[in-house]
Amino acid sequence: MIVSFLSDYGPGDEYAGVVVGVIVSLCPHARVIELGHGVPPQDVRTGARRLARALPFLPAGVHLAVVDPGVGGPRRALGLRTAEQDRLLVGPDNGLLIAAAERFGGVAEAVELSRSPWRLEPVSATFHGRDVFAPVAARLAAGDPFADAGEPIAPEELVRLELPTARLDDGTLVAHALANDRYGNVILDVGHEQLAGSGLKLGTSVEVEVGGAIQRARFARTFADVEPGELLVYEDAQRNLALAVNRGSALGELGLGRDSELRLRPQSPMSALGGPRLHLRATDSTNERARALAVAGAPHGTLVTAAEQSAGRGRQGRRWSAPAGQALLMSLLLRDPPRLLPLAAAVAVAELAGEDARIKWPNDVQVDGRKVAGILVEGRPQERWAVLGIGLNVAVRLEELPEELRETAGTLGLTPRDVEPVLGRLLAGLAGWLSRDEAAILDAWRARDALLGREVRWGEGRGRADGVDRDGRLLVELDGGGRTALDGGEVHLQR
Ligand code: BTN
Repeated sequence: MIVSFLSDYGPGDEYAGVVVGVIVSLCPHARVIELGHGVPPQDVRTGARRLARALPFLPAGVHLAVVDPGVGGPRRALGLRTAEQDRLLVGPDNGLLIAAAERFGGVAEAVELSRSPWRLEPVSATFHGRDVFAPVAARLAAGDPFADAGEPIAPEELVRLELPTARLDDGTLVAHALANDRYGNVILDVGHEQLAGSGLKLGTSVEVEVGGAIQRARFARTFADVEPGELLVYEDAQRNLALAVNRGSALGELGLGRDSELRLRPQSPMSALGGPRLHLRATDSTNERARALAVAGAPHGTLVTAAEQSAGRGRQGRRWSAPAGQALLMSLLLRDPPRLLPLAAAVAVAELAGEDARIKWPNDVQVDGRKVAGILVEGRPQERWAVLGIGLNVAVRLEELPEELRETAGTLGLTPRDVEPVLGRLLAGLAGWLSRDEAAILDAWRARDALLGREVRWGEGRGRADGVDRDGRLLVELDGGGRTALDGGEVHLQR
């Protein structure tokens, strides 16, 4: 008969060896399989998980596990018989044995061992591994009847561990970091069956959100399927969903702790942005170039950037000027663009411009009342594409702007070398915002509304700005009474 043995006794002390010694003394023919004694001290949950993962690969026998922070206290000592294969599990009643028993149909019979006739007397208060569990395991391995080991107790009364449970929330798989191994691979509370409804599939990209920060991972078969340093989602050898970094640590990279919540969703097509890319030293208008590429059939996500434009286009038929190399000038082709694209883009740009950035309807991004970015969306709705043009004054020196702009324009005040990194951050932010739902976009936009409650005028009217409606139209309380919703055009602040 085999006796397997798992514990948190560690390698240094004699505890594990003493337990094996007691077993072999009482049952010389027992074959003891040591499953390891490296469970972190008193970590019942990790012990339970390791035991449950190991037992299906061991022959049926007696399975002793000791992670026992409550030793000598009121906690009960247990012997369990499983419904399938009649495996006999021995250990403390603190949840350690239950997950393993469930792999074999659950608990068919349970006995309480604290007063077992097989104990080694005198029973110490602190080493029940030696004095209670080892002799019971040995006698069971020798073939003594299970029912003689102690007093019967009802399986429903056994202590169970409380574990977080993964759930699906509006297309997002909300999972938790259950455990990690020594490589920093993080095991989630998602089994193979739970993956089915999540939309996460082998070979696709996955958005992994932790504490609001979003990272991209590949759903791969194994570590080597992705580049060194790349994050991957995979099914581990037990078919649990897990996260790893090839040749690195997902635990460290994502800053996860025990039970940390992670939100996983398939990467939406909206988030594959920025490729192919055409960068031009000089052009007439990046929007014009992107428009031509769209008509020629370029794919979603195509990006055109330029250091300088000779005929940059602004809203309302205006021009857009920026000194060469000092601004981010970009146009992104989006196929099947979302309805609130102009607002979502403004939110992404404003986020990049900082906490104090505000949005003047519909999508001028301002810092300290000065416009640091303009957004021009052009497209063919009937052909279901749009070009998102953004001009962002990353490093613009205001004195180099045409005179008429110097009063109103602003700049992030960075250096020309920052233009490219800013582009990278903006694409990531856009990817995030373009895949959010309309309510989230509107909330974020409203939180930065520069006009809210202010007196505004436009073409033929005047009134007080009152936010945007669900279609992104500007709501205005009219001076003469009543309300209106503006869906295009230009609005000015009354001075
Ligand atoms: C506005 O008037 O506020 C919108 C300005 C949009 C300017 C950008 S710069 C890059 C892209 N190419 C263009 O020709 N216009 C947009």
